[in-house]
Amino acid sequence: MRDLVRLDEVIDAIRTLAVRGAPAIGVAAAIGLVVALEHESEGHGVPARGVPARELLAPYAERLIAARPTAVNLAWAVNRLLTVAGGVADDTLLAALRADAEAIRAEDVAMCDAIGRFGLCIIPDGARVLTHCNAGSLATAGIGTALAPVHLAHREGRRVQVYADETRPLRQGARLTAWELQRAGIPVTVLPDGAAASLLRSGAVDVVIVGADRIAANGDVANKVGTYGVALAARAHGIPFYVAAPWSTIDAATPSGAEIEIEHRHADELGDLPVGARVWNPAFDVTPRELVSGYLTDRGFVKPPFSGVTGV
Ligand code: MRU
Repeated sequence: MRDLVRLDEVIDAIRTLAVRGAPAIGVAAAIGLVVALEHESEGHGVPARGVPARELLAPYAERLIAARPTAVNLAWAVNRLLTVAGGVADDTLLAALRADAEAIRAEDVAMCDAIGRFGLCIIPDGARVLTHCNAGSLATAGIGTALAPVHLAHREGRRVQVYADETRPLRQGARLTAWELQRAGIPVTVLPDGAAASLLRSGAVDVVIVGADRIAANGDVANKVGTYGVALAARAHGIPFYVAAPWSTIDAATPSGAEIEIEHRHADELGDLPVGARVWNPAFDVTPRELVSGYLTDRGFVKPPFSGVTGV
């Protein structure tokens, strides 16, 4: 547990993945921005004493959005607060921002529940699910996106088991998904990423469900690196591949996956390497829409061009 008060602390928590997963990053950024303004603006904290909250807002927002580039939920949440700020007077600014940040958190909980309810139809009794990375309660404010239908099916008494890709290099599947599912009493088997294609060929998996960091207007999906390979293998073996995400992950302003900025992370994450070895360490990849069997959102199953999204 960490207390985050200053903007630098919030940004550090997002960059170092202390808070991670697209929806959780959005919620943390919104609440973090408000808390930082409350502590650092005029009349409050020490460093920026004398600077009104409204003057700090734009530079703080810019720095937060730059913390991680791929998950659209970060910019979505921060820009939503900027819009709120544009409609209120200075004396009610912080209260209005706090109320909206809290609303973003509460809406995320509700969106996860809705995704879970809509997704129940793809988790019949006895379902065997493969997932990649962690798109569960440790990635959102609620019960998750990809794991939401799994949690609800289990609560309803359906037998469900999950195969969790380890998710190299930071091992979100092994560390987070396995922990979360074990805690919920859901049987989980962790496999190295490189074994996913063989598992899919073996007939041990009925359905693949993954989360998303950004869904382009044409349906291309950015998610944790390795997702694309899982989607290719699922298609090769005739297994449905679903992407689960809140509506806020659909980015009307990004026409296709080619325009999604992919975060590249430090070589250290790959562990010990021969001195001088060069490293290519993208944190995400793009799965083309052709490989996606369905998009599971809080509005139900939707498909490109996602006509409910403004601007598409
Ligand atoms: O680098 P991370 O751990 O933030 O990556 C997370 C993912 O790729 C998740 O699958 C995605 O954000 C969806 S979380 C509901």
